[in-house]
Amino acid sequence: MNIAIIGTGYVGLVSGTCLAESGNQVCCIDIDQGKIDRLRNGIIPIYEPGLEELVRHNSKEGRLTFTTDLAEGIKDAPIIFIAVGTPQSMNGSADLGTLFHVAKLLAKTIETPKIVAIKSTVPVGTNAKVAEIFKGAKCRIDTASNPEFLKEGAAIADFSKPDRVVVGVRDSHVGEAFHNLYRPFLRTERPFLVMSPESAEMTKYVANAMLATKISFINEMANICESVKADINDVRKGIGHDERIGFQFLFPGAGYGGSCFPKDIRAVIHMARDYNLPSLLMGAVDEVNEQQKSVLFNKLKQHFGDSLANKTIAIWGLSFKPRTDDIREAPALSLIRDLLKINCTVRVHDPVALNNVREIFGDKLNYSTRPMETVEGAHALVICTEWKEFQNPDFSQLALKLSDKLIVDGRNLYNPDAVTLAGLTYDSIGRAKATPGRT
Ligand SMILES: NC(=O)c1ccc[n+]([C@@H]2O[C@H](COP(=O)([O-])OP(=O)(O)OC[C@H]3O[C@@H](n4cnc5c(N)ncnc54)[C@H](O)[C@@H]3O)[C@@H](O)[C@H]2O)c1
Repeated sequence: MNIAIIGTGYVGLVSGTCLAESGNQVCCIDIDQGKIDRLRNGIIPIYEPGLEELVRHNSKEGRLTFTTDLAEGIKDAPIIFIAVGTPQSMNGSADLGTLFHVAKLLAKTIETPKIVAIKSTVPVGTNAKVAEIFKGAKCRIDTASNPEFLKEGAAIADFSKPDRVVVGVRDSHVGEAFHNLYRPFLRTERPFLVMSPESAEMTKYVANAMLATKISFINEMANICESVKADINDVRKGIGHDERIGFQFLFPGAGYGGSCFPKDIRAVIHMARDYNLPSLLMGAVDEVNEQQKSVLFNKLKQHFGDSLANKTIAIWGLSFKPRTDDIREAPALSLIRDLLKINCTVRVHDPVALNNVREIFGDKLNYSTRPMETVEGAHALVICTEWKEFQNPDFSQLALKLSDKLIVDGRNLYNPDAVTLAGLTYDSIGRAKATPGRT
């Protein structure tokens, strides 16, 4: 089948590539000429494990093409996906400007009957508004809502073997068209769920609201653990074996970031406000998260007091989570800003996100491609992202290099005994601070 995808970002590129991999003819469309040129040359604008190989393979086979020409890109496609960004606007709501702009362009451009699916995360009622825009088109355009649940860092696997596919439609033939399209990905009896567009739109927000709530919940509990001298890792085990609770997504840290949770939680709050409904829980989830983003800076401040100003701090991990170069709303950025404000020297390392961070901070930071090089001349090391390569460092080397012999671990990667044995002080989340000779 011919498919067009408008918006070739994390979601559009992964979806388009995986649909091409299952035998479809896919055209990915974007307004960013540089991005399209790079993709045509096999250069992938984002880091996503496995994506480069799939893009190159499907481009070579002629199943995956890239263009900035919307009319040309959608011409032969009976199904068009919209996957443009829906960032947070000034008042906290989702900014739908780009999405409506694209819908209006489609209404003017489309000349034969088509289905347009909204893959972007959008507030309830957006599908209906897009359907209204399409009433002015030359021919019938059906709308569908097909929220995307892929996780950056595991996006190919998530798209290819989804936990479920959700499609919101008003007409059963539209649902059938998507069932056919997704059939190759549902072979292990994964559920294909058809519902109203409103329910599909809401499903995406409710999923993210639940996940963000879990993170803020465990972070708040971790902070209490720390004060009452309990260990959140033990507590986690103590609760996780209860099948009603489980272990997934209950890891304490320095707060959630990324392009989805922060803006989606605020969009939910805004949506509730539009209907004069309270959203006390989501407000708290957001507030807990904002505070948690300061937890690493506060730990450094506790350790160094006023002398933190002018110290050199090394940071490992800048992306909002491992296996991606996405730094949108990453907790590491909050820490860097706080440290720069008080004149600290900041040395940073990340396996793939250095260039993105350089675009924001330029020469205000010292960048290093090797973790051990980053800690040269630093007083302390802070871990912001749990990349695999940080999990088993040589602690004695770190003790030699860090002049204040301090590790602040925002991801609870290490066994405190192993760290303190090397003569380092270890401060993590929701666990007692461990010092050499006394853990
Ligand atoms: N990133 C994720 O992990 C993820 C997961 C699920 C859902 N989502 C949702 O999917 C949507 C897209 O997210 P993303 O992370 O892929 O965004 P992104 O910012 O990475 O990509 C958006 C792309 O749209 C392009 N674009 C902007 N205006 C355009 C136009 N007029 N015509 C064509 N292209 C245009 C941009 O150049 C960019 O390449 C958002 O609503 C997001 O909330 C994201």
